[in-house]
Amino acid sequence: MQMEANPRNRIRNVPAPRMRVHLDFAGIWGQGLWMAPRPGIKVRELYQSDDGYRISMVRYAPGAKVPEHLHTGDEHSYVLEGSVRDAAGEYAAGSYLLNPMGSRHVMWSDRGALVLTHRLGPIRFLSGWRPGPEAPPEARGFPDEGTPLLIDTGAEAGAAWERLRKGVQIMPMFEGSPGNYKTALVRYLPGSAVPAHIHLGDEHVYVLSGCQEDEHGSYDAGSYVYNPMGTTHRVWSEEGCLVLIHWRAPIRFL
Ligand SMILES: [Fe+2]
Ligand SMILES: [Fe+2]
Repeated sequence: MQMEANPRNRIRNVPAPRMRVHLDFAGIWGQGLWMAPRPGIKVRELYQSDDGYRISMVRYAPGAKVPEHLHTGDEHSYVLEGSVRDAAGEYAAGSYLLNPMGSRHVMWSDRGALVLTHRLGPIRFLSGWRPGPEAPPEARGFPDEGTPLLIDTGAEAGAAWERLRKGVQIMPMFEGSPGNYKTALVRYLPGSAVPAHIHLGDEHVYVLSGCQEDEHGSYDAGSYVYNPMGTTHRVWSEEGCLVLIHWRAPIRFL
């Protein structure tokens, strides 16, 4: 997470914040919020913007499969439970996978999985389509297939962490072009805190383990928190926590 030092007089041109969102996605089974678009696949939408940006939880039953599809925007996936597979390999819990715009694949799970996906454009199913002049309109105009990126974060085992501030560590995973989303894991050691700051772009936080707190609430493992551009808070963790974040612009300390 890129952080800027204390320019307290530069908070301008930040529109009024949209509503914050806090969802406990570990506790929403059975509340009728999951869709079942395909046999064995359940989807819970967490967030959707007007420009097609979407965050979902996807539950794979053992043996479930998502047929071949094209990504019309980058897709970031973080495997929370179980494992998923595509033609290139198997991705266990703790894996972060980027399928770039223009890439296509089939995804399935042999033993079941829970995956958090963060998508910058819709997917287009390709069954029956073969590359050629008859390609459907939605499959045209994308660059050659990008190279997927896989990171086995080893997050809970304490892999490649960098110091962000005292007691707070970061594992950057993806840094897109300016204005695009960045992805990282952030680990708060017990008792650590990040001082008051303003979000200069939307930030999406998923609590993977432990508990994170701010002035607005307490977020246990399984929580999704949306901090829209223009919102402010300070963050701390008494017991320590591991969070996955997607953010679009740096924060600025107040
Ligand atoms: Fe995909
Ligand atoms: Fe924040």
